[in-house]
Amino acid sequence: MKIFLDSASLTEIREALSWGAIDGVTTNPSLVAKEKKDFFPLLKEICEAVHGPVSMETISRDAPGMIQEGRVFSQLHSGIVVKCPLTKEGLKATRQLSSEHIRVNVTLCFSPSQALLAAKAGAHYISPFVGRLDDLSSDGMQLIRDIKTIYSNYPFSTQILVASIRHPLHVVEAARLGADVATMPFSVLEALIKHPLTDAGLERFLKDWEKLPLEIKRIQTPNRAAGVS
Ligand code: G3P
Repeated sequence: MKIFLDSASLTEIREALSWGAIDGVTTNPSLVAKEKKDFFPLLKEICEAVHGPVSMETISRDAPGMIQEGRVFSQLHSGIVVKCPLTKEGLKATRQLSSEHIRVNVTLCFSPSQALLAAKAGAHYISPFVGRLDDLSSDGMQLIRDIKTIYSNYPFSTQILVASIRHPLHVVEAARLGADVATMPFSVLEALIKHPLTDAGLERFLKDWEKLPLEIKRIQTPNRAAGVS
């Protein structure tokens, strides 16, 4: 499963890249607005840092507007994926942009029927929002199961990109179900690393090491240890 960072923060993106943890980035208008930076230069810098897919959302409500924005975004960098909302206009835009070989991430998906239509319109990714469904006492991961079944019944090439992830178990479950991508905020990515037994284990190993006399714990290169200068 690929991991994307759901963020427009260059600091977070660069840190996550340094861990070798992410394959791409997703953004949305809310995340970009939080950065309070010039939109296009920011987007370009993100693409140049990531060397992978970077989703950016259109902000028009009608298909002609989305198509025009999608074309402009896609010219900015080869990594750009255009996000269109799961509305009638969004589907029209998806169909057109996909026919121009511009990759589209259809976003704000909350039902299997929506996911079916996005695939038919030629979406490269479908983004079901699991956390927002959980917030309403629905089972977000059930939506992933349903989409997985539907997509595997037919020769669709649309990839399932699990979005609105709120905690590590969402990520583990997405991987168990065979989702193609999980996109998550920096806090969830960090939480994937943490385990109290790792911290306690490391602490114990290093304490035991400290007890050794200085002479025998000196770290040497192999040549020096063999007496070659
Ligand atoms: O990837 C979509 C994501 O940005 C929405 O997440 O937490 O606002 O539901 P959230």
